[in-house]
Amino acid sequence: MIDVQTVSNVLNLIKAAILPALAKAEVVVDATAGNGYDTLFLAENTADRSKIYAFDIQEAALNNTRERTSAYAGRIEYVLRSHAELADVVEEDIDLAIFNLGYLPGQEHAVTTKQESTLLAVQQVLGKLSLNGACVIVAYPGHEAGGQEAVVLEGFLASLPRKDYTVGCYRLLNHARTAPYAYIVEKVR
Ligand SMILES: C[S@@+](CC[C@H](N)C(=O)[O-])C[C@H]1O[C@@H](n2cnc3c(N)ncnc32)[C@H](O)[C@@H]1O
Repeated sequence: MIDVQTVSNVLNLIKAAILPALAKAEVVVDATAGNGYDTLFLAENTADRSKIYAFDIQEAALNNTRERTSAYAGRIEYVLRSHAELADVVEEDIDLAIFNLGYLPGQEHAVTTKQESTLLAVQQVLGKLSLNGACVIVAYPGHEAGGQEAVVLEGFLASLPRKDYTVGCYRLLNHARTAPYAYIVEKVR
């Protein structure tokens, strides 16, 4: 469920925006499964026929995701590998992918997403997006690695050919520049 009282919240807005696409999606990727809240959201809002890939490099995180989404385990593949290896795992075209970058709240901050692997993973996802498929990325520039990661990511996303992808960004204008924000990339051709 999305709390409508906080619709401007970056993650809530992104989740609301992707609901129609999720309803039609057949292949969905959570590139950063973490504690499984996003994977659960994907599972709850996709059809029974759809398949979900949930990636994380931390075994404990993936176990939390497995537990949280146990009701949907039959159609979720839990992948204990870096999302930078996504193309080795996901053979199908992707209808919807989500990256919720950064580190797991309450866990070791050193295990955060990194600009090189994030970029590789996003490139692989975009290369596999189906027509009108979308990739959403929530960036957290409030910590140093996250700030650099967002700069690199934005440079890449802004350079994508407009005839193939539409790229948007949602940012809270009256919050700190370090507040989280989100990119939406849609394949249009
Ligand atoms: C902000 S958390 C994700 C929150 C999560 N989606 C949830 O609903 O709880 C970021 C996650 O990315 C994972 N991560 C970091 N580098 C990764 C990589 N190269 N491949 C896959 N996951 C990675 C971390 O282990 C962490 O669990």
